[in-house]
Amino acid sequence: MLKQRYTVTAALPYTNGPLHLGHVAGVYLPADIFVRFLRMNQHDVAFICGSDEHGAAITLRAKKEGITPQEIVDKYNKIIANSFKDFDISFDIFHRTSSELHHKTAQDFFLKLHEKGKLTEDTSEQYYDEDYNQFLADRYITGECPKCQNPNAYGDQCEKCGSDLSPTDLINPKSTLSGKMPILKTTSHWYLPMNQHEDWLREWIKNGVLDGEKQHEPKAWRNQVLGQCMSWIDGGLHARAMTRDLDWGVKVPLLNSEGKVLYVWLDAPIGYISATKQWAKDNNKNWEDYWLKKELGTNRTGEESKLVHFIGKDNIVFHAIIFPIILKDHGDFILPDNVPAYEFLNLEGDKFSTSRNWAVWLHEYLVRYPEKIDELKYTLTAIAPENKDSEFTWKEFQARVNNELADVLGNFVNRALVLTQKYYYGKVPALGTLTDVDLQVLADLKAAPEKISKLVFAYKLRDAQTEVLNVARIGNKYLADQEPWKLIKTDEKRVETIMYIALQITAQLSQLLAPFLPKSAAKMRHFLNIDIENWESLGKTDLIPEGHQTNQPEILFQKIEDSLVESEVAILNEIKIQHEAEKVADNYQPAVQKENISFDDFTKLDIRLGTILEAIKVPKADKLLQLKVDTGIDIRTIVSGIAQHYSPEEVVGKTVSVLLNLEPRKIKGVESQGMILMAENSEGKLCFVLPEKGFEAGAEIR
Ligand code: 2FM
Ligand code: ZN
Repeated sequence: MLKQRYTVTAALPYTNGPLHLGHVAGVYLPADIFVRFLRMNQHDVAFICGSDEHGAAITLRAKKEGITPQEIVDKYNKIIANSFKDFDISFDIFHRTSSELHHKTAQDFFLKLHEKGKLTEDTSEQYYDEDYNQFLADRYITGECPKCQNPNAYGDQCEKCGSDLSPTDLINPKSTLSGKMPILKTTSHWYLPMNQHEDWLREWIKNGVLDGEKQHEPKAWRNQVLGQCMSWIDGGLHARAMTRDLDWGVKVPLLNSEGKVLYVWLDAPIGYISATKQWAKDNNKNWEDYWLKKELGTNRTGEESKLVHFIGKDNIVFHAIIFPIILKDHGDFILPDNVPAYEFLNLEGDKFSTSRNWAVWLHEYLVRYPEKIDELKYTLTAIAPENKDSEFTWKEFQARVNNELADVLGNFVNRALVLTQKYYYGKVPALGTLTDVDLQVLADLKAAPEKISKLVFAYKLRDAQTEVLNVARIGNKYLADQEPWKLIKTDEKRVETIMYIALQITAQLSQLLAPFLPKSAAKMRHFLNIDIENWESLGKTDLIPEGHQTNQPEILFQKIEDSLVESEVAILNEIKIQHEAEKVADNYQPAVQKENISFDDFTKLDIRLGTILEAIKVPKADKLLQLKVDTGIDIRTIVSGIAQHYSPEEVVGKTVSVLLNLEPRKIKGVESQGMILMAENSEGKLCFVLPEKGFEAGAEIR
């Protein structure tokens, strides 16, 4: 295969929170599989990521947590970088956009665009919060979406209908800082006139033609990506401001631009370039090889790189339209070859949500199940939201691990290696005469790598992983049909051939599996006592030759117990209950104060402590308890609507507050001579108003 250079990027995560399984399934894991596959095929790859440390996402989080933006980015950069490392995502570098090298790279890029006249300066009226003396960019402003009437749309986007908005589109805008209606104030910014780029973008995205040259095969882009791009372009592109009035970000490198920083969506993708520079510096590489066009750069070697951006669907416009415009405007850079964008992963019937804590956090999973990394990788790839939104449930996790990893893959590998130990002390036996069945199995084995490669290059990693499992299925069926454990008594020679073939299947599996489940593949290589990791070795029938000594195997995948599923679901249920309670509390409006009464009116009330002596349920009234109460002056009957909050046993013996001189009235046929006073909380729960210890029945309350 012709060797190719690749620059593979994975969306830089905002350092405003930890990573959850949705992020992993829809960006980082597929990118890692793709890159591991390329490396196994000896392609030259730079796998680039880092943290996106600017923008309102960061400053708003800092405000919420009551710490500085720098503290926020340091905190989450560490959590995110560690969880990537522990989850074995094989970035060549995980950089930071807060680094000096990045600030310099982004500023130089901006200056180049500015010098080439690719940006236009313009003044406009923008919302301003007078209490905070701050312009309100993007997420600093919320209001009603003009398209779908969502009352909580942001200044840059409505998350409900997906519309791209600008702050002045919002109905009833509100500052997220002061909560007040902002004023309009004039400010000037540098804009990218995207409207001037519609023609070439349409041609490039639709037909793959750039400046008369064939650049890439647009048909290979996912339909959703093509569809979203075309609908943007057909809807008309508008000039977009590339700077912001903020104090957190990359400073605009021009005179008279104090208080202005680069738009985070200008600086973040340039972060891919600065990260590559850092990696090249640390590893004696030339960053230009991975970014510049063929004829450019100093010391350039080899062919032009293929740029691939792995992203979530909410990032499509930035990577398939805005960044390409910027790269082309600069002039020296290659444009993306593909932008495999993922749809969203849901969790147990609901959207992942950082603010509602509706998530399985990667770093927490890794603490709870450090030995189940490949199990999670397998499940997330099997359900990856490649073409439509999909869902993670713990039940499915269990089913995938138990029925596919343990019963199919683990079972086959174990059988093949255990029988080899048993019959041949672990040595690969000789290949004898081949039957038609053997020939068919070997032919299937030979065809598998090519089939899987095609799927990987088409970014169909779900199907690719299924094909790998199918090889184990072939192996299982082969052993089940051939029954070497029976034949060993009658035809030892035939068993040698069967086991030889079973071992070749196992060896191939250890290679095919490597991009998807690297830890399990490494274990398999250890069992097999081989150290190759090379896709090109595949399809051969003597990957492990006759006489090769294999090792004693161990169980590859432990089954997931019901108790794990139950405890994880219980954690999520707890979060749901907590969230519901918070929602009620948030919406709780204490009753407004009633009209004033005179002191005389108040003294008319006879409120005292009373001790409940007996309590029974009122028949056919599920809310009522009939109480016998010692009021200090008498013992009387009071009917109280507390049966849904207290059982009769719970209330007996309690000394509570009682209104004595309420006109007696019949409730469900029982005369009630007074009223027990209760407090009610935001959820409608009732509790007694209790005295301190040592206060007895009859004590007056006034
Ligand atoms: O959506 C996000 O999480 C962004 N931080 C992705 C940035 S990708 C790239 F442009 F840096
Ligand atoms: Zn909307």
